[in-house]
Amino acid sequence: MAEHESFNFKSRDELASKIKALGLSLSLSDNISVLFQKFDFSGRTIPNRLAVHPMEGFDSQPDGSPGELAFRRYGRFASGGSGLIWFEAVSVVPEGRSNPHQMWLQDKNIASFSRLVEHTRQTARKTIGSGHEPYLVIQLTHSGRYSQPDGQLVPRAAAYNPYLDKDKEGIYILTDEELASVQDKFVSTARLAWKAGFDAVDIKACHGYLVNDLLAAFERKNSRYGGDFENRTRFLIETVERIRAEVPALSVAVRLSLWDAVPYPYGFGADRWNSKQPDLDEPRRLIQKLSTSGCRLINVSMGNPYRDPSIGRPFDRPLPGSPEPEEYPLESMSRLINNTAVLQNEFPQIPFVGTGYSWLQQFWPYLGAGVVSTDKAHFIGLGRSSFAYPDAPRDLMENQKLSQSKVCIACSRCTELMRRGGPTGCVIRDKEIYAREYKKSVNSSYK
Ligand SMILES: Cc1cc2nc3c(=O)[nH]c(=O)nc-3n(C[C@H](O)[C@H](O)[C@H](O)COP(=O)(O)O)c2cc1C
Repeated sequence: MAEHESFNFKSRDELASKIKALGLSLSLSDNISVLFQKFDFSGRTIPNRLAVHPMEGFDSQPDGSPGELAFRRYGRFASGGSGLIWFEAVSVVPEGRSNPHQMWLQDKNIASFSRLVEHTRQTARKTIGSGHEPYLVIQLTHSGRYSQPDGQLVPRAAAYNPYLDKDKEGIYILTDEELASVQDKFVSTARLAWKAGFDAVDIKACHGYLVNDLLAAFERKNSRYGGDFENRTRFLIETVERIRAEVPALSVAVRLSLWDAVPYPYGFGADRWNSKQPDLDEPRRLIQKLSTSGCRLINVSMGNPYRDPSIGRPFDRPLPGSPEPEEYPLESMSRLINNTAVLQNEFPQIPFVGTGYSWLQQFWPYLGAGVVSTDKAHFIGLGRSSFAYPDAPRDLMENQKLSQSKVCIACSRCTELMRRGGPTGCVIRDKEIYAREYKKSVNSSYK
C-alpha cells in the first residue's frame, strides 16, 4: 500500500510511469474512439460507452417531485452527450428518504417525472442530434440505516451492525412483514418509472442502504431475509423477479457493491480472513442469480461512503474532520477496475458499468479506453466528473481530449454539501449555483 498523495500528473506519460512504479494492472489506451462505439442492448442501441453515474441532487419538492435544479442537472447531462444516464437515488417510500429533498416517486407526482424524462430526451436530441437517444435508468432506493426523512437520522436497518451503528438502542430493525411491504413498494414504483418513460430501473444495492444492508445481514436471525446466502439475497432476487414478471417492458438493473469494506460477518463481499480485501465468491454467486432472474445491467461500486468514502470515490481532499485515506488513489481505482474486470469477464452477457474514474481529471479517457477496449467493463461511469464537466463526452468527441480547466478536482465539496443536507453539485466548476449553496451550508446546516 502506498501513501496517499494528491493528483499531480502533468501528462499521460507521467501517469503511466506512476502506474508502473506502483505495479498496478491499469492499462491506458490512446484509442479514445472505442468510447464512442454504440452498444446494442435490450432492443435498443446505446449511443456510446459513457455513463453518468447516479448522483443525488437533494433538490426535490417536498412531495418528492424533481425541482428546478433537477431539470437543470439532467438537461446538462443530456446535452453533454453521455450514452447512458443513470438517474439518482429516488426513494420508494417517504420514511426511506435520506433527506427531505431526496426525490420520491409516487402515484400523485408521476407527471413531473414524465416531464423530467421528456426534458432529458428532448435536450439530448436538440444538442447532440435527432438520432441521439441516451438510455435512461432510474435508481430506486430505501435508505435503511441512513434514512433522514425529516432531516434527522431515523435508522431502519436489516440488522444491528457494530461497525456502522453507535449502539443497538438507536436502531430499528425492520420486521419480515415490513420488508415484504417495502418490496411491494419497489415493484409498484418500478411500474410508475415505466409509465414515466424510463428505460430501466435499478434496485440500489450499495453504499450501506437497505438492500445492501440485507445482503450483509449475516446476523439477522430467524428471518427469511437474513443469515445464509439464500436468505440474504432473497429480497433483491425476488424484487428483480417480480418487476420482470409484473412490468415486463421495463429492463432491470442493479447497482451492486462488490465489497462493502466492512469486516465479516458485517459486510457483503468480505474476505473472512483479511478485512482489507474483497472476496468475490458471494458477489459472483449473486450475479449468477441476478442474471437468471432477468437483471440485464450492473453498475459496480464498493465501500460504504459513511465509513470510508475513498474506497468507492478516490479523492484528493477528505471531508473536513476526516482522516486522509490509507492508500494512494490509484490503488483504490485499481481495486474497483480489476475486480469489475474479473466479473465482467465471467458474465459477458451482462454489461457492467465501471466506477472510480473521476480522480484522473483530464486523463480518465485513456484509462476508460484501456478498459473498454479489453472488455474489462462495457461502460465507463462518471460521478463527480459529471457534476463538474457534464459535457466531457461531447468535448472528447469533438476534440479527442478534455479541457483541464473544466475537470473535477476531487475536492469532496459536493459530498460536503450532501452531508449538510444541501442541494449538491460542483462547487468549483458550477459556481453560479453551488458556490453560493456551499457558503450557505458552511454558515448554517440545511437540516
Ligand atoms: C454528491 C454525491 C452524490 C451521490 N449520489 C449517489 C446516488 O444517488 N446513487 C449512487 O448509487 N451513488 C451515488 N454517489 C456515488 C457516485 O455515483 C459514484 O459511485 C462515485 O462518486 C464514484 O465515481 P466518481 O469517481 O466518478 O465520482 C454519489 C456521490 C456523490 C459524491
